[in-house]
Amino acid sequence: MSRARICPPNVDTLREAAQLLLRGEVVGMPTETVYGLAGNVFDERALERIFSVKERPTFDPLIVHVSPSLLGGKPLEGLERLDLVDTTEFSPLARRRVEALAQAFWPGPLTIVLPKTSRVPDLATSGLGTVGVRVPRHPVAQKLIEATGMPLAAPSANRFGRISPTRAAHVLSELGDRIDLIIDGGDCEIGVESSVVSVGVDGLVRLLRPGGVAVAALESVTGSPVHLAIGPQDGTLSLSAPGMLASHYAPGKRMHRLPAAVSELTALQLSTLLRGQPPQLPLGVLLLSGDAKTLGQELSVRTGHPVIAFSLSLSGSLSEAARNLFARLRELDESTAELLFTEPCEIKTGLGHAIADRLSRATAGRT
Ligand code: TXA
Ligand code: MG
Repeated sequence: MSRARICPPNVDTLREAAQLLLRGEVVGMPTETVYGLAGNVFDERALERIFSVKERPTFDPLIVHVSPSLLGGKPLEGLERLDLVDTTEFSPLARRRVEALAQAFWPGPLTIVLPKTSRVPDLATSGLGTVGVRVPRHPVAQKLIEATGMPLAAPSANRFGRISPTRAAHVLSELGDRIDLIIDGGDCEIGVESSVVSVGVDGLVRLLRPGGVAVAALESVTGSPVHLAIGPQDGTLSLSAPGMLASHYAPGKRMHRLPAAVSELTALQLSTLLRGQPPQLPLGVLLLSGDAKTLGQELSVRTGHPVIAFSLSLSGSLSEAARNLFARLRELDESTAELLFTEPCEIKTGLGHAIADRLSRATAGRT
């Protein structure tokens, strides 16, 4: 039973959303990466709502969203003026690096983790001394923050551990029975979440989650290597990036990682993969590239199983693949396929890095 309304982003609906947010309610908000579930970061009631609506454990910290106008011309000074971050301990190098990253990638898909002030409730940061901040590029997210006049905490608007939403209808199907309003900003342009980096007091930059900004782009802006500190993929928690659980972004059905691209699977690999499965069991396959119809038909002929195949990009474009990733995973999950497979993704550069990370979490423990 859904009660949420999906509304176009006009003056009236943005005003209504802002009023809800100022009352401690939560609202579905579009961003350029994925849809967020927004709440006033300085209001503990709103934070409690976010965690309960998402069924999210409180050890997983939230990202705080600010608009360029709330921030003013100098990002770090703006964050300090908003009383979100406290960088008094920062070396001049650390300050320069934060300013450089913010100038280069804000507004955009980069979250920077910085020491927090006492005004930021511990609930928002899971008790950590740091807070993740990002300036979304999506004009509707910016307008909503401006209309509210408050920094907005917003995790992805899915139930915990599930597939992130990249269109308003996804938010409705995830959380429609628990929230009142979803602002429709169209399909998300990037399709995977922001890259999360921390900057230490000494200026050391660590990547906590691969996302919309490539590591090479981060390195060219800071002029120094970015250290990889991605959460483990073995089901345990990472200390540096809580919330980066191995099993995440997962469809409800079992999904396995194929040992090779579909067109390269050997007969032995296929028979091993499908051993013991009933002959008519419908298979669902996520292809990284190529023509889904042709490749799906070939696989069906080779295995004798009905095959439902989706391709992330006909041409193999990584930005197109990222944009389609969560929607295709969701379609496979909702299809009649009963056993899901994904092609392996080994790319460690650009958006491929984020796609590989999300797919490995979607199949964690099920290779
Ligand atoms: O693109 C995005 O970042 C989207 C949109 C809505 O902005 N938001 C998003 O939020 O992906 P969420 O809650 O699904 O993921 C937040 C993750 C946490 O799970 C954690 O890994 C990391 O960001 N994070 C947040 N604050 C942190 C902190 N203080 N220290 C370390 N990691 C943090
Ligand atoms: Mg999420």
